[in-house]
Amino acid sequence: VKANVADFADELLKTANHITSPGKGILAMDESNATCGKRLESVGVENTEENRRRYRELLVSTPNLGEHIGGAILFEETLYQSTKDGKPFVDVLNGAGVLPGIKVDKGLRPMCNSNGESWCMGLDGLAERCDEYYKQGARFAKWRSVISIPDGPSRKAMVDCAYGLARYAAICQNSGLVPIVEPEILLDGEHDIDRTFEVASQTWAETFKFLEDQDVLLDRILLKPSMVGPGADCPKRNTADEVAAATLRMLNSRVPPAVPGIMFLSGGLSELDSTLYLNAMNQSPNPWHVSFSYARALQNTVLKTWSGDDAKVAEAQEILFNRTKDNGMAQLGKFDA
Ligand code: 13P
Repeated sequence: VKANVADFADELLKTANHITSPGKGILAMDESNATCGKRLESVGVENTEENRRRYRELLVSTPNLGEHIGGAILFEETLYQSTKDGKPFVDVLNGAGVLPGIKVDKGLRPMCNSNGESWCMGLDGLAERCDEYYKQGARFAKWRSVISIPDGPSRKAMVDCAYGLARYAAICQNSGLVPIVEPEILLDGEHDIDRTFEVASQTWAETFKFLEDQDVLLDRILLKPSMVGPGADCPKRNTADEVAAATLRMLNSRVPPAVPGIMFLSGGLSELDSTLYLNAMNQSPNPWHVSFSYARALQNTVLKTWSGDDAKVAEAQEILFNRTKDNGMAQLGKFDA
């Protein structure tokens, strides 16, 4: 008999609380095989299962990773992999106090009758997959849908994004996984910060409406928003304080205080900007834990430093630790550039 969400109510809360401990965030390392391959090839490393495993071993076995990281999001392949010495990654992470999470969406496909927008795939069979991931040790999950400002955003894209996220979130909670709700508003485009604000406000209103329709427990989810800033090609740039203020204004008007954590994506921001913007948002108290779930902004320099060389593992790990520390300090509003 399938468990009910009530069977997991305490555990979901415990998981969410652990990930949102003061000074902690999430290490996103759930790149699909294709995306991970692109990253590896950019540093001259062939995209093989073994090379993906070697790179992920470097990340998960970084000394003291759990000091500033409460959870790591894995791709399905990684959830079942082990270190060279045969220790499952799940055990390595748990040993460091880092909860294993899993990306459960099946990626994006072109949306029919649209101007280049996309659908997020993966609801079919999701409950069964979530049960398996839980057995394998996953305790939280991620589903990333995208909204493109220059390609739309059309009404149907927003509704589909919100509906998919809500169905996914309900399924996860019934399988004991805390869902990270991620409608990523892409950075691409020439639009200014006001336009991003407007689209983000609509997107989150729609998302919460559908979460409510599906009876998702709002105190047992995490959000993964994009920061509200100008499009990447907008000539008018904004300061860290302006981005932080617009982002918080949007969230305060849309997100109930019951939601425990807001774990931002870096979305192509530089390593320094993503830390500065987070730090700016934590200069005064927020109703939620405002933190990070970065992939590129934690990994870019780490990957370049490693470039496939076993002799560089320790140096790359030290860089990763320092990136997690800077962002952990930014979560506390105490980052000093
Ligand atoms: P970036 O921080 O590189 O945007 O990735 C975060 C993520 O996991 C997007 O889904």
